[in-house]
Amino acid sequence: MDKLVIRGGEPLLGTVRVSGAKNAALPCMAAALLTDEPVILENIPQVRDIQTTRNLLAAMGAEVELGYGRAHHRTTIHCQNLASPEASYELVKTMRASTLVLGPLVARCGRARVSLPGGCAIGQRPIDLHIKGLELLGAKITQDHGYVEATATRLRGAEIAFDKITVTGTEDLLMAATLADGETILQNAAREPEVADLAALLNKMGAKIQGAGTATIRIKGVAKLKGAKHRIIPDRIEAGTFLIAGALTGGDLNIAGCDPTHLVAILSKLKETGVKTKSTATSVRVMGDNPFAACDISTEEYPGFPTDMQAQFMALATQAEGTSIVTENIFENRFMHAQELVRMGANIKIEGRRAVVRGKTPLSAAAVLASDLRASASLVLAALVADGETIIDRVYHIDRGYEKIEEKLKGVGAQIRRIGNMLP
Ligand code: UD1
Repeated sequence: MDKLVIRGGEPLLGTVRVSGAKNAALPCMAAALLTDEPVILENIPQVRDIQTTRNLLAAMGAEVELGYGRAHHRTTIHCQNLASPEASYELVKTMRASTLVLGPLVARCGRARVSLPGGCAIGQRPIDLHIKGLELLGAKITQDHGYVEATATRLRGAEIAFDKITVTGTEDLLMAATLADGETILQNAAREPEVADLAALLNKMGAKIQGAGTATIRIKGVAKLKGAKHRIIPDRIEAGTFLIAGALTGGDLNIAGCDPTHLVAILSKLKETGVKTKSTATSVRVMGDNPFAACDISTEEYPGFPTDMQAQFMALATQAEGTSIVTENIFENRFMHAQELVRMGANIKIEGRRAVVRGKTPLSAAAVLASDLRASASLVLAALVADGETIIDRVYHIDRGYEKIEEKLKGVGAQIRRIGNMLP
């Protein structure tokens, strides 16, 4: 099993380039199920979740070509014949976002059978809102043997008000509604940039969607969708992780190829800590100037502070002067990184959904365990400023969502290496 070995203490200097957003690429790949023509996606990140989605689509009968490097990180997905509209437990258990195929499959094939995801490291994460929405669109839902099966001769438009804001739930129903008969209105929809990116692709495919990126999305169903070419937006969470890396290490880091308009909540929190940043249309430069001040964060749906940046921010808070309160409102069990940070010398007390971080405490290298994708990122960040050599085990979590993290960090001066050779 791969491990990352990081020797702390080097300021990060230079330019690091952000990859395409995994969380936009996944629904866009699922959207290819809605048409029998090829869909070409560019700026696809080279991460394990993309490979999993490729396997998922291929198992249904799709032809999926993936090319990296000079091929512009491009994938071409052609779903001409979908022999088997099913997502197996084997795939869903490794990637919950596999449930994104439910909506498009039932809309296109009239039938979908998808394994129910179990609980996961960060919380229960049910998909009841996806199911409820599909029922409102006229699908008949049955559940047995751990699978959910949806059938419909043709979905019909409906007004759907989400009880709770859900990102993949919004995306799943958005895709299903494109081929429904009549108009669908999604209320209390997720406003994440990844939802807007998916809608941009769907509109290029011939869908009629208005309002994506706001809380109310209107979709006029069409009879058929066609192929299209689309470039995935930059990964705002990867960009945010590098911003914190630059700040923490007291470096001078230019984060290129990002979209600062998607980073407003993160940039404003960095400003509160006293960290200086300078944005252009496509980059942010972070100038780490220790010491920096403690500040509180509270995770919220977009445009609030992202839960996917909470763990990384906690690593920063360990090195800030004063007490930071980190409140996690989206997932009930997303503090697994805290205990590992404590093992490295951080002072963190968990009180329910709140973590109280008292800084600044020196961090010392230790053998630590990555428990989920973003928790692993926070351990990498802590290791970059720890005294000595940190060994991070279960790196496969980080490979799910960060493209070649050790190469990117090494390129800007980090002392980091991978042991083993299980790159995605
Ligand atoms: C997506 C992101 C993930 C991010 C999360 C929150 C992808 C592939 N993943 O996950 O990186 O951390 O948004 O920004 O885009 N919920 C229900 N019932 C449902 C669906 C969700 O109760 O049917 C709850 C969840 O348990 C959670 C909250 O709603 O407490 C938000 O979850 P959701 O937005 O659905 O997260 P994902 O789409 O799974």
